[in-house]
Amino acid sequence: MSAEFPYVRPRRLRQSPAMRRLVAETRLHPAELILPAFVREGITEPRPIGSMPGVLQHTRETLKKAAAEAVEAGVGGIMLFGVPLVQDATGSEGTNPDGILQQAIRDVVAEVGDDLVVMSDLCLDEFTDHGHCGVLAEDGSVDNDATLKRYEEMALVQAEAGVHLVGPSGMMDGQIGVIRRALDANGYQSTGILAYTAKYASAFYGPFREAVGSSLKGDRKTYQQDPANARESLRELEQDVAEGADLVMVKPAMAYLDVLRQIADASPVPVAAYQVSGEYSMIEAAAANGWVDRERLILETLTSIRRAGAGQILTYWATEAARLVK
Ligand code: PBG
Repeated sequence: MSAEFPYVRPRRLRQSPAMRRLVAETRLHPAELILPAFVREGITEPRPIGSMPGVLQHTRETLKKAAAEAVEAGVGGIMLFGVPLVQDATGSEGTNPDGILQQAIRDVVAEVGDDLVVMSDLCLDEFTDHGHCGVLAEDGSVDNDATLKRYEEMALVQAEAGVHLVGPSGMMDGQIGVIRRALDANGYQSTGILAYTAKYASAFYGPFREAVGSSLKGDRKTYQQDPANARESLRELEQDVAEGADLVMVKPAMAYLDVLRQIADASPVPVAAYQVSGEYSMIEAAAANGWVDRERLILETLTSIRRAGAGQILTYWATEAARLVK
């Protein structure tokens, strides 16, 4: 055989659907998908979110239906976000035992709690009138340690409502440790923590701000990570694991697949990734224009996030994608 003959022929393994299926290294399964869902206080009909076509602000009733549909499709979990009627400086509704998020947790746990892992956003930005993820100091900066006190209270009302995993997303230093201690000290040893470990200050969260009615002016650059950096993600990982995180997360997903790979290689606990609102909306917008094949892109992006090392993926397409891969 002469040297120039193409004796290496990778195309053999690509020649038929059956062959490609046989050698696929990455498979999507509904059980690893997590559906983020919004529930809004004081509405009687679900409201569309203009910047996220196909995603709704739910009523308590339609949220239960969405959770049941997710179960039906085989989805693994649901992440709840509350949109309160009243926002104030300290985010009082976030720690009101009867606040909208706590009610939603109770509703969903009662409806599908045996079949779906129920999670809740543990952060103040949905509840504060200034839109920051914490409480503010006199000078207007976000006060890390005062915020930790609020997170402890939030963790307790969410745990009391029956949530399985709290999802601290505020990027305050020490948040996992104080939440773990507060939960344990109050009898909630079984309530777990899905830590937003490497969370970047990203423009990809744009549509989410409409989804939760956030009034944020400015940005979150003093607490969320700089997109320029990867190294500090590993430091955050080390810290969150030491403080008791049960799972860790990288967010956003698509623009941070390198960070995801590094975290996946280093983490002793399961690693999730969040395909965020802007990632969703870009694809929906391009598809609405007929520029891309929507279903193929949904599956391609999810597959890429899996391939980069995510064991679990939060995606607004969770229920639909679960049906597609079933
Ligand atoms: C904070 C939080 C945000 C998202 C999830 N949790 C917003 C932010 O940090 O600015 C964004 C999710 C998305 O864009 O889909 N509570």
